[in-house]
Formats: sequence, C-alpha cells, structure tokens
Amino acid sequence: MEIVLDECAGFCFGVRRAVDTVYEQLEKGKTIYTYGSVVHNEVVVQELAKRGVKVLEDKASLLALPPGKGEEKAAVVIRAHGVPEEIYGILEQKGLECVDATCPFVKRIHRIVREQSAQGKHIVIVGNPGHPEVEGILGMCRGPATVVEEPGEAENFVPEEGDSLFVVSQTTFNYNKFHYIVEIFQEKGYNVSVVNTICSATKERQQSARALAARADVMIVIGGKHSSNTRKLYEICRGECANTYFIQTLDDLHLELPKAVRLVGITAGASTPNKLIEEVQRHVRINF
Ligand code: F3S
Repeated sequence: MEIVLDECAGFCFGVRRAVDTVYEQLEKGKTIYTYGSVVHNEVVVQELAKRGVKVLEDKASLLALPPGKGEEKAAVVIRAHGVPEEIYGILEQKGLECVDATCPFVKRIHRIVREQSAQGKHIVIVGNPGHPEVEGILGMCRGPATVVEEPGEAENFVPEEGDSLFVVSQTTFNYNKFHYIVEIFQEKGYNVSVVNTICSATKERQQSARALAARADVMIVIGGKHSSNTRKLYEICRGECANTYFIQTLDDLHLELPKAVRLVGITAGASTPNKLIEEVQRHVRINF
C-alpha cells in the first residue's frame, strides 16, 4: 500500500507568519492576547495556551481588558484572518500594543474594499457569513456591503437602482463556486467589477488535493473542525473519493483498510501543524 502526502498540505504562508509572530512576542516576555484563535486548530491553540497566550473571543472581551500601561502593557496579536477597522480603534483607545499579523493577502482585500466603497461601490463579498475573515472585510467597507455564499443568494440578490457592484471573495472560498456566483451577477446584466481575491495557496491546495483524491482509494483530510478551508478540502476530496475521512487529531482516525486499498492520500488544511500531519502519516504507515 502506498501512502502519499499532498505536497501542499499544512500551514500556508499567512498562518505560519501569524503563529511565528505569537511565538516571537512570547519571547519578549509580554502578556500576549490573540484576537480570536490565531489559527483554527485546537492543537496549536492549546499549545499556545500552555505558554500563557490568552484568546480574546470577541469585541466584548477586548473592551473588558484593562488599559495598557507603558512597559507593562499587553500585546494583542491580530490573527491572519484580520479584524474589522473598529478593533484597531479600540486597541488604540485602550493603549494596548497591536501586533498586526493579518495575512498580507487579506490586507490587500481590506485595501480594495476600503477604496472601492469610498468611491460609492456596493461591495459583494463572496464568502461564509460570520467567518472572521468575512467579518473583518465587512468591517472595512465604508458603504453598503453584502455577503453572498450560495448561487441561490446571488440569484435572489437585487441591487438598489444605480448600484455599481464590486465583488471580492473570501481568500479560502471555493474557486469554481466563486466563478459560478460571479457569472450569475454578470448574466443578470448588473454593473459589476470583480477582483478574484482567492488566495493562490488555497487554490493550489484545493487542486492538489483534488488530484490526489482522484487517484486515492482512501483519503484523510486533517484540520480543525472550525477551519473553513479544511472543510472545503474535505468536500472536494469527498467528491473524488467516497472513502474520505475528516479528522482533527489522530484520535479521530478509526480506519479499517481492506487489502484492496492501494493508495491512501493525506492532505491538511492551512492551519494544520506539520507535527500533526507527520503523526497521522506515521500511524498509517505503521498500522497498515
Ligand atoms: Fe493568507 Fe492565503 Fe493563508 S490568504 S492566511 S496565505 S490561505
């Protein structure tokens, strides 16, 4: 039996950078908070919690923090997904140090929507409503903004008379679905400009996982249950390989591999640490 690890599996550039930032700040001996979990992976979050990193779950918990005081002040690390503009304002008002680890690709979307909405465009974000990245993008818009997740929502969407739409996507959104939704807007004849802001790391990981799943008899997708990019990877792999397993840690893996299985493929979401991927790979190699 062959075990193939997807070459694109695991931490993407932005998540690696955010996690490294938290560790660098820890080295400085400060009290470290992250605004939301730094990555959607419980294993990483628990490891950081052991080192004293505290997670601010929402705006209310940030507002409840005592104000920063000179050298003693705490640092708040903004995770790769980014945050709405008002969070920067609150950090400043409170005198808390802001260490911004927003992924540069997400920053680019913030810049685009700020500029375009300031010019009066109605921003359409193709993404998952409620996802922190989408909330962050929404919070950067200076005018009307709508989140669209499903083609049906695009069908039902009716802009205000004279609206110019400007469409961007959540970085981890499914590539084909984004294009399909954009096509719906275009076919309706709306005045629409589009910038595809899907991150190439996501696209490459999705394409590579799809290709591996297409030739695998069994596919294992590793990642946090709250990680949207891992869930999408799972959907893609499931479409190619019926025997696809979504696991968070090795404990979730209850594999029974019949003799006929020739190829087991392994992939992982952008927030899955290498240690975990190696553990799963080793387990499959030793036990099957
Ligand atoms: Fe950034 Fe792309 Fe990762 S947007 S956080 S490098 S998936």
